[in-house]
Amino acid sequence: MRIAVLASGNGSNFEAIAQAFEKQTIAGELVLVFSDKKTAYVLERAEKHQIPAFTFSPKDFLSKKEYEEALLDLLVDHQVDYLVLAGYMRLIGEGLLEAFPKRIINIHPSLLPAFPGLHGIEDAFDYGVKVTGVTVHYIDAGVDTGPIIAQECVPISATDTLESLTEKIHQTEHRLYPEVLAEIIHAEE
Ligand code: GRF
Repeated sequence: MRIAVLASGNGSNFEAIAQAFEKQTIAGELVLVFSDKKTAYVLERAEKHQIPAFTFSPKDFLSKKEYEEALLDLLVDHQVDYLVLAGYMRLIGEGLLEAFPKRIINIHPSLLPAFPGLHGIEDAFDYGVKVTGVTVHYIDAGVDTGPIIAQECVPISATDTLESLTEKIHQTEHRLYPEVLAEIIHAEE
């Protein structure tokens, strides 16, 4: 299986995934990283791990459709089988969904369907829930709505701050995401 990671920012989940590929706990090959943000730190991480990195922005195209067509061309050129979203801050359009049916995976920092959207950690903290967590799911056309693959709880204690909760969520993500990807890809090999 040939895997591509799509990311828009820091790339700490990419880092965890790249390390798992290097240790060969995930089978298959991490063939490329794509970012829609040219200054994203994930691109530096990719270089450090010697993973080919590509970046262009929807602003470079006349429409979202053309942007996604260029992205699809890139993925097809590299014979990518699976897309792994790791902080990719855009909705996936119809063209990519059709090209990768049940082969686009995302991680979200809450127990979906609770707290979808851009601020899953903060929204759960502000609401005052006592348990939040992490969800790995397939992508569909909605915002954080696709079929759930795995979830893990993260309790929120009375002494937690948004910062400490954020740290716990990220630690959970960095363990859970590579584990789940390893299982999915192993089942496909
Ligand atoms: C993660 O919290 C992930 O759940 C969400 O975006 C964040 C990306 O963080 N989808 P990073 O770029 O992997 O550090």
